[in-house]
Amino acid sequence: MKKDTLVNHPPEVSLPPDNHPLVAPIYQSVKFSFGDTGETLRYLRGQREGFFYSRSANPTLQQLQLLLAQLQGRDDCLLTGSGVATVAASLLALCKQGDHILAFVESYGPTRYIVQHLLAKFGVAHTLLSIEDLPGIERVLRDIPTRLVVFESPTNPVTKIADIEHMTAHTRRAGALTVLDNTFAGFHNHGAYDVDIFLHSLTKYASGHGDVMGGAIIARGELIAQMRKDVSTMGPTLDPHAAFLIQRGMRTYFLRYERQCANALACSLFLRGHPRVKQVHYPGLDSHPQHLLARRQMSDFGTVVSLELDGGFEQGARFADALQYFAIAASVGSTESLVMPPQLLAGNEYTREQRAASLITPGTVRLSIGVEDAADLIEDLGQALDKAY
Ligand SMILES: Cc1ncc(COP(=O)(O)O)c(C=O)c1O
Repeated sequence: MKKDTLVNHPPEVSLPPDNHPLVAPIYQSVKFSFGDTGETLRYLRGQREGFFYSRSANPTLQQLQLLLAQLQGRDDCLLTGSGVATVAASLLALCKQGDHILAFVESYGPTRYIVQHLLAKFGVAHTLLSIEDLPGIERVLRDIPTRLVVFESPTNPVTKIADIEHMTAHTRRAGALTVLDNTFAGFHNHGAYDVDIFLHSLTKYASGHGDVMGGAIIARGELIAQMRKDVSTMGPTLDPHAAFLIQRGMRTYFLRYERQCANALACSLFLRGHPRVKQVHYPGLDSHPQHLLARRQMSDFGTVVSLELDGGFEQGARFADALQYFAIAASVGSTESLVMPPQLLAGNEYTREQRAASLITPGTVRLSIGVEDAADLIEDLGQALDKAY
């Protein structure tokens, strides 16, 4: 073997069968070989196990798929390169021309875009309601044949809580599917409800460190089987190295989430008592309008806190600029705290009624609470409020 051949066929190292790494290796390989044509054909016909091409299946991804499906209490999982890819891929795979989708004003902006613009191009109709409009949800599901209902809880940024039992019961009765973007609540919440498909942005709590993007579609086996071919052919696959980093992040998922929730409650209690804060949106506060519903549905209350500042854009920007430990940045769920001042919160595309339902005002500021020391965060919030006025 000449050296230029050798570098393309490097020596193989295999482990003895009784010698295991404690962390699974990253299978950073696009291709897997069976050694002969017969076995390759058997694999492609579904007659044997194995891997062939990483766009469709990869062992590093499979470990993460199994873990996330188990945590969410469902059979199977598909991984994508970002959270929004789960929305686009699952909705495109499940809908066809002439279908109708029920979606919500309070949903993540790109999810509304996918429903209102992307799917509309292919003849999929939709109705947009407020997540609090329970009679409207009943009416639409009774009167309009509907393929699926896509929703979130808690919502972004003002942490409204969807009534999941109401949603799933009426959706099931209508013969439609529920798709719950469960990113904010986490894998450990909502699994007991009759939700058909869970979506997660793994960019947030799963990775946890703000250094990798990913998404997961989690559902019972039959639904994943229905979507698998379409999703893998659209090609939004997660890279094995990203899957490895997310798998590593998952080791501390519960520790981080628990600490972030405790910090979020401490910060929201402080903010509630501050004279310049008109309102605090955090489901863990007994003053939150859906606190009891949140208590019933979730084992904790999430890590996002929003507040209504006395004033508007100017005070919001001054407050955000003065914070020392909260970076002005998009996203939520990482170890570090973040702030979004009112002028950076989405919603420019809302009609007047939709904006009113969204509860986003010129004084709304979103905080994503990290794992720092709670007393430091509270002190920082206090000094920034002083500076803002
Ligand atoms: C609820 C929710 N779903 C989906 C996404 C999209 O995730 P990604 O940024 O990984 O595409 C986000 C991102 O902010 C989100 O907040």
